[in-house]
Amino acid sequence: MCEIKSIEEIDFNELWMKTKQNSSHGKKHKSCSMIWHDKDKAKKYDERVKENNRERAMLQIEKLKINSTSTILDIGAGPGTLAIPLAKMVKKVTAVEPAMGMFECLKQNIEKENLNNLACINKKWEEVNIDEIEKHDIVISSFSLDMLSLQDALKKMNDLANEYVYIFYSAGETPWEKRYKEIYHRLGREYISGPKSNYIYNMLYQMGIYANIEVYETNYTQKFKNLDDAANEFKHMLDIETPNQEKILKEYLSKNLIKPIFPTGKFGIKENGNLVLKGKTITAMIWWEKKNK
Ligand SMILES: C[S@@+](CC[C@H](N)C(=O)[O-])C[C@H]1O[C@@H](n2cnc3c(N)ncnc32)[C@H](O)[C@@H]1O
Repeated sequence: MCEIKSIEEIDFNELWMKTKQNSSHGKKHKSCSMIWHDKDKAKKYDERVKENNRERAMLQIEKLKINSTSTILDIGAGPGTLAIPLAKMVKKVTAVEPAMGMFECLKQNIEKENLNNLACINKKWEEVNIDEIEKHDIVISSFSLDMLSLQDALKKMNDLANEYVYIFYSAGETPWEKRYKEIYHRLGREYISGPKSNYIYNMLYQMGIYANIEVYETNYTQKFKNLDDAANEFKHMLDIETPNQEKILKEYLSKNLIKPIFPTGKFGIKENGNLVLKGKTITAMIWWEKKNK
């Protein structure tokens, strides 16, 4: 029997918190950003971001209403996925990034690209005081909503925007969640996914922000040097401890890893020499124009 009579009765902030805390990764890492303190993981992420001339980031940037005079605040900027290319196109970018591994990568990228209009704040979004940061024309969060209070995080984004806010987040089960679920199943465990973009849309609606939403599909490819490299990556994420668990993991991976023989990607970059896991990701771009600018 369903006890909820209307959607207004649902506290989306509380639901977000509970779903996050109960998810398999939420339980293990407390906060997902813990992963990104690791320098090697951050470096690998940065390498993936730079593949095919930053194809994924450029697709996101194409969708933004920006011009050469825009100022941009990028929350959870990572290695500068969006912040680095954006800094070359707009007046000024401020990147907020709390995890040390990612932050160091971001700093190195800024130095390499010789950018002097990209400022960095090494803090969690929750720790940023609204008075310590000026308003920016555009506020962006790209796959970085690892905050317990979604409502507070979104409100601060809205308060600090002059023109538009853009949130990029997954819709539906991601390819990596599908893999984790399948491996967990073989290990006799249950994998519980984290919250998705529908929570964000509904949270905003409850806050009186009636956002636009665009949903699009992209290819997702994860590359590994060999089977051991892939197993190491998954081992950490999946709490693999015993030799038997590792055997199950490797059996799964050897069945699913493929060695591509054709050039792929928009720019025809070959994936030769790597084993890959392929999938499709669905992204929701949730965006709104700031009222009472
Ligand atoms: C998956 S990465 C995304 C990086 C980048 N925005 C992109 O689109 O590639 C998530 C990033 O969000 C950051 N992050 C996680 N929790 C955060 C928080 N509470 N405040 C600010 N950033 C956070 C992480 O440290 C990490 O760098």
